[in-house]
Amino acid sequence: DKELTLQNEEDMYDKSIEQLPKALFSDKIELLEWEGFWSEPTIIKAAMKFKTTFQTEPNDVLLASSMKTGTTWLKAICACIMQGNKEEEDLLVKDNPHFHIPTIEAMNYFIKNPTQDLCTMHFPRLFHTHLPYRVLPDSIKNSDNCKIIYIARNPKDTLISMWHFFNHNHKRVEKNFPLEKVFECFCNGFHHYGPFFEHVLEYWKESKKKPQKILFLKYEDLKMDPKKEVKKIALFLGKPFDNEEDVEKVLWRCSLERLKNLEVNKSGSLFADIPNSSFFRKGVVGDWKNYMTPEMEEKLEKITSLKLQGSGLQL
Ligand code: A3P
Repeated sequence: DKELTLQNEEDMYDKSIEQLPKALFSDKIELLEWEGFWSEPTIIKAAMKFKTTFQTEPNDVLLASSMKTGTTWLKAICACIMQGNKEEEDLLVKDNPHFHIPTIEAMNYFIKNPTQDLCTMHFPRLFHTHLPYRVLPDSIKNSDNCKIIYIARNPKDTLISMWHFFNHNHKRVEKNFPLEKVFECFCNGFHHYGPFFEHVLEYWKESKKKPQKILFLKYEDLKMDPKKEVKKIALFLGKPFDNEEDVEKVLWRCSLERLKNLEVNKSGSLFADIPNSSFFRKGVVGDWKNYMTPEMEEKLEKITSLKLQGSGLQL
């Protein structure tokens, strides 16, 4: 009986997905539109399940971000802080940050059986999502106990990082995503988890309304003053540092240079079609200048100022 119910549920989700608008990202990857955002069919299905079935537990922490905005770095930092920065073995040597803090809607296990697999996580649970705020389960939105940390990044670097990611790492499709195509998609809000600006603005507005619940970070701030930002994160997580040495230790453990050169990240692979190495590239602010034409720069800047106008947010 239970199996039949599960099968019925699967069928129901599959049916809902069939009805959704679809289009090809950069002529290659099929994306569906659900609740005003775009993503791949398996992700949308997992997002639907997540929204309808998920229940928070006390002290859950949800990390949230668009793609390519510093998710891996934030995951590494939070995993280290929660571990308590003891002298014991460094978690990050053993596994990639995405292993320690799973992205709910992208994990195979979640796609299969979300509730059961989340139950086996250690407490306090730390997980991540790329989903927009509007489709988060009510139990997360309404709970005073579940904190959210969001990381944003300037749209130009985000876009260039995304373009590299698809060209170098997407093994399912031919590796040829011309910048012009990816640029057009991004500007039109048609990309994984897009539109980008709505994604950032929703979390930004919520963080203004509920600063105790949502901590809003920027990749650029983390690069500019990492100590200050990491202390902020630790405090928010209820794990303030005792001394400066510990702050430095976390930053060193989570540095791009170190993570990039760890064996697990050089050769390992957590997702079938994405090697761990693909999460570590240059990690600099302003790399877009090496790729975008002045016309692209002008167009994206116009869109950015139009979208962010009056919000008090600068990216
Ligand atoms: P670039 O492509 O600009 O180098 P995400 O983790 O959300 O997928 O974002 C990936 C971006 O974060 C990449 O940017 C990557 O190089 C950068 N990044 C990954 N780990 C980092 C770290 N430990 N410190 C700083 N930047 C990091």
